[in-house]
Amino acid sequence: MITPSTIEQIKSRLDIIDVVGEFVKLKKRGSNYLGNCPFHNEKTPSFTVSPAKELYKCFGCGKSGNTITFVMEHEKLSYVEALRWLAARYNIEVEETQVSNEQKQLIQVADSLYIINSFAAKFFDNQLFNTEDGQAIAMSYLKQRGFREEILKKFQIGYNPAQRDTLAKELIGNQFNRELLPRTGLVAVRNETELVDNYRGRIIFPIHSNSGKIIGFGARVIGKAEKAPKYINTPENELYSKSKILYGSYFARQAIDKQDECLLVEGYTDVVSLHQAGIENVVASGGTSLTIDQLRLVKKYTSNLTIIYDGDSAGIKAALRGLDMALEEGLNVKLVLIPDNEDPDSYVNKVGTAAFQQFIANNKKDFILFQLEVMLKDAGTDLTKKNTLVNQIAETISKINKAEDFTKQQEYIKQCAALLKIDEAGLITLVNKIKRDKVAKEDKKLSLDELNNQLTTDQQETSTLDDTSFLISADEKQEQNIIRVLLDFGLNQFTETETVAEYIFAGLQDFPFENPQLEQLLERYKTEYRQGLEPSTKTFLYSEDKETRELVIAITLFPYELSSNWDKLYVGKTITNQDNSHQDVLTSMNYYKLCKLKKMFKQNQIDLEKATKEEATLLIKIHFDLQKMVKEITKEGGTVILK
Ligand code: GTP
Ligand code: MN
Repeated sequence: MITPSTIEQIKSRLDIIDVVGEFVKLKKRGSNYLGNCPFHNEKTPSFTVSPAKELYKCFGCGKSGNTITFVMEHEKLSYVEALRWLAARYNIEVEETQVSNEQKQLIQVADSLYIINSFAAKFFDNQLFNTEDGQAIAMSYLKQRGFREEILKKFQIGYNPAQRDTLAKELIGNQFNRELLPRTGLVAVRNETELVDNYRGRIIFPIHSNSGKIIGFGARVIGKAEKAPKYINTPENELYSKSKILYGSYFARQAIDKQDECLLVEGYTDVVSLHQAGIENVVASGGTSLTIDQLRLVKKYTSNLTIIYDGDSAGIKAALRGLDMALEEGLNVKLVLIPDNEDPDSYVNKVGTAAFQQFIANNKKDFILFQLEVMLKDAGTDLTKKNTLVNQIAETISKINKAEDFTKQQEYIKQCAALLKIDEAGLITLVNKIKRDKVAKEDKKLSLDELNNQLTTDQQETSTLDDTSFLISADEKQEQNIIRVLLDFGLNQFTETETVAEYIFAGLQDFPFENPQLEQLLERYKTEYRQGLEPSTKTFLYSEDKETRELVIAITLFPYELSSNWDKLYVGKTITNQDNSHQDVLTSMNYYKLCKLKKMFKQNQIDLEKATKEEATLLIKIHFDLQKMVKEITKEGGTVILK
């Protein structure tokens, strides 16, 4: 267990922009930062980080939290692991109290897969280098393909013997947990209890995480694959998630960073051979189409991705399929095809490092133009196909939407128009139309948000948005807005004799909250305030219960900041930003009261309709009292339109 004082120390050192910024490209927007959400796919950034409040929220997928929960979510860590991660990052020494047996066991289970994998890798390595079979069967094959020992050592390549359970026996003999073993994919259960090797008679390529831990394996048959599949891979498990892995990234990342370019090949052997040839900025996709996670992994190190595939590979089309995503990630994608039935591995062995590099440099094709050429060939003289093609290419080009890439976009339009033999102006029009349609769609979404934000009805509002946070009543929105003002400015002086908090407490006496959760939050605030604890957003942000945390985040970030709607309500008083806190408090409080009054009016009206004569007298008096109150508030707040 980490001691409370260490946890405090970590919390005091946290810098949310620094931590989130490591994974998300953030741009400053007013007092917040904005970026593409790392938790879901999106084209327009809706991931908002507030450094002042030390929190984030994505308005697309709804994920929200603080610095610690970000590290937990993003790095798939437990709370304690996230603290350790942050401690390491800020060079804070972690003090520990005694760990309970239960906790020990939990940690052990999580680490076990790593431990088994690394044990197995050593076993495979030993089999390859130090056994007769390993030398005669596996090493001779690898040598014949041109791999030298030092490169095999570097990539920890090994051999799984052909007998049915050499590794299984070794694992059991070393007391590894039998239940856990099959999850690694190294062994399988036969006849219910027996464990047998899964990768019998295969060359083993360990697959490393970005930090160099072995998270899985690729196991290749020796020689030609006739009956069995050429490769067997680790099944998806706690460590191994194929869509997030690029083989070789651990060995390549420094070179990628230095050369500001990432080469992408298909196979394990391509990576290893290129490394051996001194070309180290290379990773492999494993022959499937690229995933957004893989592209983001590349994007962490460089914006320049060069895909090197063999010319007649089925993989090209698979790779191209995912590549529109690369454009949206802002990657510059180039393509090189290796000629004559060679692949990068065989080609570099054939022509040598210098010629290989020369070839890559001379034959880099732009991905968009390449895609167009391939499709043009496909379409032939078919006019319908060509039409579809024009639309497709316009769609692709429209995805280059970064402002700084504008010239690039113009250049593409020119070149593609030439290749397609169509009018450049026409293509420009088409691209712009697609862009406009997209913007219109986004706008539609936005105005829906606005709509929801409008303080018009006191009924449950329903909308087409999935986020249930929008399905709250206008009343509750007003209550939330009061909480926001309290959290933001509660401790400020409102008048010479009164703080904002005191002003609000007083105002709420006649108009209590209705939502129990918000009421509870308000009470907590009051208690802390009255104890002189100076409550703020942060106080509640680190609350133990998730609900409070998320509620506070929702309140402080969205959608209760004063929006343009307020201008419509308070004619002639434009509230531009939060610095105008006095006005914000006043407006918020007044509008809150008006909302409550309006509700009372309505209720009064209903009561009046059903009232007896005696009751009616009272109700009419109430009606006038309410009206007077509205007038007073309206006078104070400027011209208020109450519909
Ligand atoms: P060599 O033929 O030894 O040069 O291997 P390679 O890595 O060049 O293989 P290839 O070009 O045929 O395939 C590229 C990549 O696709 C491999 O590295 C594997 O990641 C993957 N792959 C190929 N065949 C299979 C298979 O049968 N099963 C699985 N799961 N993956 C495969
Ligand atoms: Mn190959």
